[in-house]
Amino acid sequence: MLKKQTVSVVTFGCQMNEYDSSKIKGILKNHNFPIIEDYKKADVILINTCAVREKSEHKVFSLIGRLLLIKKKRNLVIGVGGCSAEVSKDYLLKHFPALDIIFTPENYPKIAQFVENALKGQRSIHEIIEDNEEVVVESMFEECGASACISIMKGCDNNCAYCIVPQARGAEISRRPETIFKEIELALKSGVKEIILLGQNVNSYQFKDITFPQLLDEVAKIDGIKRLRFVTSHPKDVSDELIHVIKQNRNICRNIHLPVQSGSDATLKRMNRGYTYGHYREIISKFKAAIPEITFSTDMIVGFPQETEEDFEKTFQAVKDINFEGIYLFKYSVRQGTDAEKMDDDVTPKEKQRRFDLILNYQREMVLKKNKSLEGKIVNVLVTDFSKKDKHKLCGRTENSKAVNFNSNGEVNINDVVDVRILAGFPNSLEGEIVKNN
Ligand code: SAH
Ligand code: SF4
Ligand code: F3S
Repeated sequence: MLKKQTVSVVTFGCQMNEYDSSKIKGILKNHNFPIIEDYKKADVILINTCAVREKSEHKVFSLIGRLLLIKKKRNLVIGVGGCSAEVSKDYLLKHFPALDIIFTPENYPKIAQFVENALKGQRSIHEIIEDNEEVVVESMFEECGASACISIMKGCDNNCAYCIVPQARGAEISRRPETIFKEIELALKSGVKEIILLGQNVNSYQFKDITFPQLLDEVAKIDGIKRLRFVTSHPKDVSDELIHVIKQNRNICRNIHLPVQSGSDATLKRMNRGYTYGHYREIISKFKAAIPEITFSTDMIVGFPQETEEDFEKTFQAVKDINFEGIYLFKYSVRQGTDAEKMDDDVTPKEKQRRFDLILNYQREMVLKKNKSLEGKIVNVLVTDFSKKDKHKLCGRTENSKAVNFNSNGEVNINDVVDVRILAGFPNSLEGEIVKNN
C-alpha cells in the first residue's frame, strides 16, 4: 500500500547524478513512497548535489537554505546526497544543522531506511562507504522516456589538476558486464530506445579481460537499441579498436564527446591531462578518416592558473580548427584539495570572462551557420516529448544531439525514431516537418 508521505528528488550535476537519482527513486518506489516531480509539494525532499565548480555548490547551498526556512513552518524532511555530501560534508553539518539526512551514492541502498528514520525524527548522516555496486533496481527506468543513462563504472583514477570528482567519487571501479546487461534489458523493457553508457573516464572501462571497445561492441548488438552513446571519453584512452567498433555498428551515434580542455600543451601539462594538442588532433583525424560523417563535442576550461594570452589563443585556434558541434565551456573555478588549488589563480575574473565570451560568441555563430546549412536536409530524430512552446508539435534530438521541433502527421509517438526535413535552423534548435516513420 502506498504511504502517505510523498518524496521528491532534485538533481544537480552530470548524468551520473541522473543515473543515481533514477536508482534512488526506484528504491523509494519499491518501498511504497509516492514520488512526485514538484518538490515544493513534497513531504521529503532529497537533493542530489554537484560540487564540480564553486557555482554548482552555491546553487545547492542556496536551495538548502531556502528549504530549511520552509521546514521551520511545516513538517519537511530534507536529505542531501551526491558529490557535495561527500566533499563538503563538514560544511553542510556546520551550516545546516537541521538537515535530516546526508548520504552518498554508496549509501543509496539504505535510502528508504534513512527516510523512514527521518520521518520518525531520527537523523542519518553517512559514515561508512560501502560497496553496493551490484544493486539492480527493477523499476528505475520506468520514468526514463526515450533514453536511459546506465553507469558502467564509478569513480575516476585520473588526477586532472583542477578536478574534484576523484575526491567525490573515489577510485575507478568497473561494473560487471552481467549487471550492465541486466540494466539495459530493464531499460529496453520500459520502452527506452537510446542507451547512454556512463563513466567519468568511460573508455578506460576494464572488467577482468573485457575492455571498453569489447563491451561497447556487445552492447551495440543488443536488439532494440536504436541509439547508443557513451560519455565521457578521455583522449588518452581512445584506441584504434574503439574507432573500429563505432564504424562497424551503425546504432552508435556519430557524435563523440571528447573533452580537450585546452589547446595549449603547456596548459594541458599543468592540468595533468596526459596528452598534447597534437595527439588530440591526431585522434580526430583518425576518426574522420574511418567515419567521414562523424562530429565532435567537447569540454573546455578558460582561465586555468597561469594561462597566458598565447595559451588562450591556442585554445581559440583549436575551436576554429576542429569546428566542434557543441562546446561545454567553463571558467576555471578553484576546488579545495585539488593540485591546482596550490597554483596561483592569476587570471582575473574579468579576463576569464573575456576569454569565455570570445569562444562562446564565436561558437554561437558557428552553430547557427551549421543549423542553417541543414535547411532542406533530412535528419534522423529520436522523438522525446511534445514541444514546450507548442503542444501540437513534437520534439526530439538528432544523432549529434541537436534539438528539433516538428509538425507531427498524427502517426508519430514519443520514443519513435523518424526522418524529419529541416525547414529552418535557429541558434539553439531546428524546425522541421515529418518525412516518414522508420
Ligand atoms: N569526467 C569527465 C567530466 C568531468 S566534469 C571528463 O573527464 O571530461 C565536466 C567538466 O567540467 C570537465 O570536463 C571540465 O571541463 C569542467 N571542470 C571540472 N572541474 C572544473 C573546475 N575546477 N573549474 C572549471 N571547470 C571544471
Ligand atoms: Fe575529473 Fe579528469 Fe577524472 Fe574527468 S578524467 S573526472 S576531469 S579527474
Ligand atoms: Fe558534479 Fe559529481 Fe558529476 S561533482 S559533475 S555530480 S560526478
